[in-house]
Amino acid sequence: MGVQVSTATLAGAVAECGAAGTIAGVGLGYGTAENDADYPGASRRALKDEIRKVKVATRGVVGVNLLGALSNFDDLVRTATAAGADFIASGAGLPLSLPELAEGSRACLIPIVSSARAASIIIRAWKKRYDRRPDAFIVEGPLAGGHLGFKPEELQPCAPGRLEAEVAEVLQVARDCERETGAHLPVIAAGGIFDGKDASRFFAMGARGVQIATRLVATPECSVAQAFKDLYISARAEDVVIIESPVGMPGRAIRTRFIDRVLAGERVPFKCGYQCLRTCNPATAPYCIAQALFNAVAGDLDDAVVFAGHNVSRVKDIVPVRQLLEGLVRETLAARPLFS
Ligand SMILES: Cc1cc2nc3c(=O)[nH]c(=O)nc-3n(C[C@H](O)[C@H](O)[C@H](O)COP(=O)(O)O)c2cc1C
Repeated sequence: MGVQVSTATLAGAVAECGAAGTIAGVGLGYGTAENDADYPGASRRALKDEIRKVKVATRGVVGVNLLGALSNFDDLVRTATAAGADFIASGAGLPLSLPELAEGSRACLIPIVSSARAASIIIRAWKKRYDRRPDAFIVEGPLAGGHLGFKPEELQPCAPGRLEAEVAEVLQVARDCERETGAHLPVIAAGGIFDGKDASRFFAMGARGVQIATRLVATPECSVAQAFKDLYISARAEDVVIIESPVGMPGRAIRTRFIDRVLAGERVPFKCGYQCLRTCNPATAPYCIAQALFNAVAGDLDDAVVFAGHNVSRVKDIVPVRQLLEGLVRETLAARPLFS
């Protein structure tokens, strides 16, 4: 979860429980002393630092999530793999050059897709160019938080069962690939998975994992400002909105004063020292998404975009990561017979 929502403390706590922790690699240079002078250098050093911190704290599995649209994507993939990230997960664009950038590292490469078509294109391109296949796919559906690989009209309202349908199609693509290569290609479902019943539905279909984001914000280990967590706990279903992001994709967020201004068509002026997204034109962008997300983490909610998943209104308490994950595992195991 970017910008700076899923940092070393949260990713390390998740990894300590035996799950895979993810450090968000986007926007780590924001708020550092070198921010204005050398944003790519500040991002690189901050990412290296986050990975080192977590590697000292845990021997569990910790990887990095990097948006394909980042201008410094190549640099950050190389930085993450050199610093020992166990995996690189990448979405917001097809990560077609990922194997080349990660060459020589032992990191697992995990594209994030929102359709079977995207999964097939990646498999074919990586086979042709690099003779390698993805180590897993994360399939993200329309109920996820943050940037979404769907058209705005597909998100309001979200079609029920959409993630299930996507997962089924990507599983088919993965199985074809497994038959060809003889190697496993696990599929991980993401977006709106709130409890063990949700998770067990995807495991029963053949998914090998689920990715959880929203619920992990409401934990003591998540390093965002208390105001960010309080907004999660007080959010009602009707407070969750879809915005157009300068990334060039829609995003799901909780309504704030800032979002009301943006939804009303206001342009929020900003200074851009470094064009951090290839897809953003600072001259025409209505606001700076990196700054707005950074404001959220710092607790300045009136000037913030606070990303959240569709199910955020079901989050009621701050729960330690271990308690949350052990509860999810228990619920998943208990629900499993219902679906097998
Ligand atoms: C606050 C927040 C920030 C996010 N940032 C990113 C990101 O930087 N990169 C990414 O690939 N996905 C991002 N996501 C999406 C999640 O990784 C995840 O796939 C999805 O939200 C899971 O659904 P859930 O939130 O219902 O658990 C973000 C989600 C949230 C809630």
